[in-house]
Amino acid sequence: MKKLIVANWKMKPSSLKEAKKIFNEIKKVTSKLKKVDTVICPPFVYLPALGDSVSKQTWRLSLQVGAQDIFYEDKGAFTGEISVMMVKNLGANYVIIGHSERRKYLGETNEIINKKIKTALKNNLKVIFCVGEQERDIEGNYLYFIKNEIEEGLKGISRKLFKNLIIAYEPIWAIGKKGEDADNSEDIFQMSIYIRRVLLGIVGKELSRTIFIIYGGSVEPENAESLLKEGGTQGFLVGHASLVPKNFNKILKIAQNIK
Ligand code: PGA
Repeated sequence: MKKLIVANWKMKPSSLKEAKKIFNEIKKVTSKLKKVDTVICPPFVYLPALGDSVSKQTWRLSLQVGAQDIFYEDKGAFTGEISVMMVKNLGANYVIIGHSERRKYLGETNEIINKKIKTALKNNLKVIFCVGEQERDIEGNYLYFIKNEIEEGLKGISRKLFKNLIIAYEPIWAIGKKGEDADNSEDIFQMSIYIRRVLLGIVGKELSRTIFIIYGGSVEPENAESLLKEGGTQGFLVGHASLVPKNFNKILKIAQNIK
């Protein structure tokens, strides 16, 4: 099965020139990788340039671009917001929805996230739906927390739209740290089984098996191999390491060589 490696550039870098430089360094590697789908999610303002560069290539399918968010309405008077069609028309095929930083700093609730997921899936955009707990407690309440995030986020969504859904498990306590502070592969393995069971309850056995689950939170070249081999996930959502082409390319090559 192909691996999915998504770069979340967050609010970086600060110029288009830099963005293009990073992108082109990554592009050199992705064109050679047959077993990895790479998605770069830059800030909106760089999508036109990077989306254009992707659509001109014959290896379009191995390197794609995505948005870091969209608004839940298709069009209208919503100052400052960006619609699904706007990003699709710029060449984006993916969108990250429900990232913990948006939940924390922008006040995104499960209800808002649910509306965004619905709009994106209805318009054929692939959704990277982020879930993750703030902390782990011995009683295991964090498991209920994750279950609730998934159930609320996917409420009322037609089963036939689930083919474009990807779940990104990102424990908040593991984000933006050094590789050694990432979650360990054993926990991720258990969590991926748990998430699949939650999905089973929502969409049934057959469909739940096909949904990609990826891990995010301090993925670096040093831990990528063990996390991918033993973590039971189908890929990564990579933050800080995706802005350093040398590191991101190493992660891509590791994903390509995983048996
Ligand atoms: P990180 O970010 O790799 O810097 O931990 C991951 C994310 O927030 O998506």
